[in-house]
Amino acid sequence: MRILPPPKFLFIGQDLHLEEKLAPTFDFDCKYLGIRNTKKAVEVMQAERQDFVIFDCDLLHNERFLSQKVHLKELYESALHQNPKVVFIILFGKLSEEYRELKKKNFTTIMLPKKSMTPSHLLFIYSLFKKQEYRTIVTKDIHPMKKYSVDFYYYDSDNKGYSLICRKGEEFGEQKYVTLRESGHGHIYVRGPELSKLLLENILPLSDDLNHIRKQYKFFLSELFDHSNAGRFNHGKQLKEVAGSIVKKLRQLINRYPDMYECLKEIPYRKHSRISHGLNTAIFSIIFSKSTFTDHSSDLAIAALVHDAGSIGLPLKIQGAHSMTNKSVTDQIKFQIHVKYTLDLLEKKRFIMTEATKKAIEFHHEYFDGTGYPRGISGKEVQQEYSLFALCDVYDHILNDFKNKHRLSLLEAWEKIKEFHQMGPLKERFRPEIIDLLDKFFARCIEKDQAA
Ligand SMILES: [Fe+2]
Ligand SMILES: [Fe+2]
Repeated sequence: MRILPPPKFLFIGQDLHLEEKLAPTFDFDCKYLGIRNTKKAVEVMQAERQDFVIFDCDLLHNERFLSQKVHLKELYESALHQNPKVVFIILFGKLSEEYRELKKKNFTTIMLPKKSMTPSHLLFIYSLFKKQEYRTIVTKDIHPMKKYSVDFYYYDSDNKGYSLICRKGEEFGEQKYVTLRESGHGHIYVRGPELSKLLLENILPLSDDLNHIRKQYKFFLSELFDHSNAGRFNHGKQLKEVAGSIVKKLRQLINRYPDMYECLKEIPYRKHSRISHGLNTAIFSIIFSKSTFTDHSSDLAIAALVHDAGSIGLPLKIQGAHSMTNKSVTDQIKFQIHVKYTLDLLEKKRFIMTEATKKAIEFHHEYFDGTGYPRGISGKEVQQEYSLFALCDVYDHILNDFKNKHRLSLLEAWEKIKEFHQMGPLKERFRPEIIDLLDKFFARCIEKDQAA
């Protein structure tokens, strides 16, 4: 059952090449309208609520468009009138002050360079802004014997969908609640529109914090990819402050758990997406730094938030090369460029970062045995903190991305890393002392499970 109607896209442009190029973005359940007559676009927007409007700025130089005397501002306002939360994506060839003015007033406007626009890029922007159908609830916020006035769901990774786990008015019951927590399904979910109802009746401190962190991270990423601030010196400083605030809040949330194993069971997202991967890698960087006595955990967590940002523009097929199960060597080689793209993007945005953050990004695919990239450094050159960071990245992929018959638990994912580290495909890629220290941490987790 679909809770919200499918989002509506409206593409306003006349560039057939661009339309063709971006068409795969709309290859899902939504209405796609390509309109070249701008007056018609205004009529459509006045008549129907749109969720995403993509405007090709080349129209602003087109005589036919100019003769209709329709302004970009007017188009935006008619979309806004029908839907105050409309996301207005402006594709520009050359950045002008006019677009920047529009951005200054409206946070739901994002400006992207037309030249580098790809379906994967646009899909990512779409995922940043789209309304969440389901919202995350941390299990610990829910009492097993209490009756709630909303339905609860869990995410079924095998079927890639949400399934009902507890109906409103019913209690979870001790057994179902414990099974859910131990099963590795991670969070429970409520429908987006029902979250406020649940919050009105209950205090959910951990879920509140986590939802807030995710929202802030989405804002951070949308700012990172928005070009309206391109070249503005202060923007990099602002981005750094937001990233610092996300990491500070993550650390506070983690510190609310006296036991790191319990925290690992509850806080990371058990679902693969770019947003989840950035946050999970940051969470693992903070928690695993503690158990391996590694310095620079905040620098690593900030690196985690941006480390794969450069892969956004790569074709979707190549992006899959990050997965442990992808066998295509050609795609994996093409994918290596994402490290450079990430550093280039951060430099272009003047993102202020420490040396340790920069190196963590640069070295996140460098391995102890020298088989990594882009430089292929080895041994002592791969310092402890960077080897740990590379491991946090892989751990999330194995936990959430690895195509196994069943969802791996935290301990199974660790066993998988150890197995891969001994026999391949990760043979001796990480520093041995990191593997030993984390193995001790997970051994203590096993003892806790056995004692429970
Ligand atoms: Fe990467
Ligand atoms: Fe990654």
